[in-house]
Amino acid sequence: MPLSARSAFRRRSSLAFGLLTLAAAASVSAFADPVTLHIDASAPGKAISPDLMGIFFEDLSYAADGGLYAELIQNRSFEYSIVERTEWNNLTAWQTLPRGGRGSVGIDHAFPLHANNPHYAVIEVREAGALAFANEGFGGIAVRSGSRYELSFFARRLYTGGRWDGQKSAAPLPLLARLETKDGTVLAESAFDISEPAWVRLSATLTASADADDARLVLVARDRGGFALDEVSLFPEKTFRDRKNGLRADLAQTIADLKPRFMRFPGGCLVHGNGIPNFYRWKDTIGPIEQRRQQPNLWGYHQTVGLGYFEYFQFCEDIGAQPLPVIPAAVSCQNSGHTGGTGQQCLPLADMPAYIQDVFDLIEWANGPVTSTWGAKRAAAGHPEPFGLRYLGVGNEDHITPGFEERFTMIYEAVRARHPEITVIGTVGPSPDGEDFEKGWKLADKLRVPMVDEHYYKSPQWFWDNLARYDTYDREKSAVYLGEYAAHDERRRSTLRSALAEAAYLTSLERNADVVRFASYAPLLAKRGHTHWSPDLIYFTNTAVYPTINYEVQRLFGVHSGDHHLPIATDSAPERFAASALRDSATGTVTLKIVNGAATARPLRLRLAGAAALAPVAELTVLAGADENAAREDGQPDPVSLTTRPLPVADTFDYEAPAFSLTVIRLARP
Ligand code: AHR
Repeated sequence: MPLSARSAFRRRSSLAFGLLTLAAAASVSAFADPVTLHIDASAPGKAISPDLMGIFFEDLSYAADGGLYAELIQNRSFEYSIVERTEWNNLTAWQTLPRGGRGSVGIDHAFPLHANNPHYAVIEVREAGALAFANEGFGGIAVRSGSRYELSFFARRLYTGGRWDGQKSAAPLPLLARLETKDGTVLAESAFDISEPAWVRLSATLTASADADDARLVLVARDRGGFALDEVSLFPEKTFRDRKNGLRADLAQTIADLKPRFMRFPGGCLVHGNGIPNFYRWKDTIGPIEQRRQQPNLWGYHQTVGLGYFEYFQFCEDIGAQPLPVIPAAVSCQNSGHTGGTGQQCLPLADMPAYIQDVFDLIEWANGPVTSTWGAKRAAAGHPEPFGLRYLGVGNEDHITPGFEERFTMIYEAVRARHPEITVIGTVGPSPDGEDFEKGWKLADKLRVPMVDEHYYKSPQWFWDNLARYDTYDREKSAVYLGEYAAHDERRRSTLRSALAEAAYLTSLERNADVVRFASYAPLLAKRGHTHWSPDLIYFTNTAVYPTINYEVQRLFGVHSGDHHLPIATDSAPERFAASALRDSATGTVTLKIVNGAATARPLRLRLAGAAALAPVAELTVLAGADENAAREDGQPDPVSLTTRPLPVADTFDYEAPAFSLTVIRLARP
């Protein structure tokens, strides 16, 4: 298995590592035929991207609404529609509960809250007695005893002119908002009066009196009369970093623990969408949530875009990740209209100036001063400081057609001319090779695009077989962002085998992180019971988070990063073996990563030039499992162990990499 410049380094190392300490040599006898791993921690090393490890977020498998976005009400603004899913309508997730009164619930659009939010519910109580209107959340609302939940909704009084009996009533209409269990036990309650004929936002904090995983929000009207209702929202008070309109704290923290250096968002295929009208338009996703323009996404979900550009940028800032938004290259997904590959629609050229202006506006919104038109909107949303946007993805896995090339070139040249500080990232199709890959690279070469986005989902063996892929990439050409990758094992499970193949590949990316600047596993999130793409990095339910073994690999590489790659080589070519050595120049810490994908333990003799400048005891972290076919199963014993312990080191020391393992040895400066 070739490591970087192995033979050249081996020539140097035979001299440099000639002296073994007796103590280290004595311990060697414990192992039979160790492979020697030479690491030169005294070398300056090769400067690499310190930002290699990042994340890619796409609203797939309920990643956003019902997932990371902490909103607990499903279909909060009555905009679900049959266009999105045949079984959906404006009242999906809502239910009318007979509680003694008689009346009806309907949908109207005559006097909407906002043109972007056209539908609302109309609730009429015709005969006095309770009429309840309940929302089930995303498969139940999980509440915890003593926790506080922020309820808000827009309402307006209807029929004050007396629609049924001519009797005008100006009396306020009382409404009770409750959290209830399925059997009707009240967990929290707040009372409102609906009196205004115009839309008014009402709010209250509900404190749950008991735990429940499948509570619902129940709105109870008793008096005769009617009211309109829209944008019914319920958030846990505790969100990630206590942000309003924020993110689920446990999921967001699990993502933050990856220590991602960047976040690509909001997709994927959903960015270029199902035809031109379904482009993800960033301007539709900012401002008050009730004024955002919701839309289906091509994966079959409803996007409230409550998790919109402001929230994405804020999350990036909260977790220390560079924002990397992706915009459509003014062409739609080639699979638009379920065509399976020929449905790419190109924005009319007459619309391109306005489209490019939207791109400029995005850059101004992210980076402009508060005195600028779009910077002022960012400030009004609560972020006067610029977000510091540096990267912009244009296009996603697009079919490289003449229409694409023309539009990509227009956007790219315009951004380059007006905003040379922004690095545009182009796209080279959905595969590691093939027609779109070749054409995409040809275009990038022609335009001298600074970076291109490669994607591939391949077998674990493919990753092992391609560890040298980037060793020969031309460093004078575009840099690479490996924007989507995952090892797809049999039945697309998140097995230890797939995780170790990814770990091995990551060592090769680290070695080549002078040309591969960013890399992100895909997809990031998937909700149990709503998983429409496998495998994913993190699974979750309404109450639990289930990181995969592959997640642990990503986390270990994210936590143990560096900005210089050090010479590392073996004196033989062991099967299923990969390693890398990084230095973090800010701290001087050296990190070794060793992947043993074999079924037997691998005895190693490490020859560490420069050991004297490092602490004599390192931190050893090992991820290992007995069965490479194993995957984590919810609620079952973990098939892998993840342990950390001290490891004495010297200029030569022995270490046995367990079967099916990833080892991280962190050598700090004393
Ligand atoms: O990651 C899932 C999907 O895979 C992305 O949306 C798309 O870019 C790729 O085909």
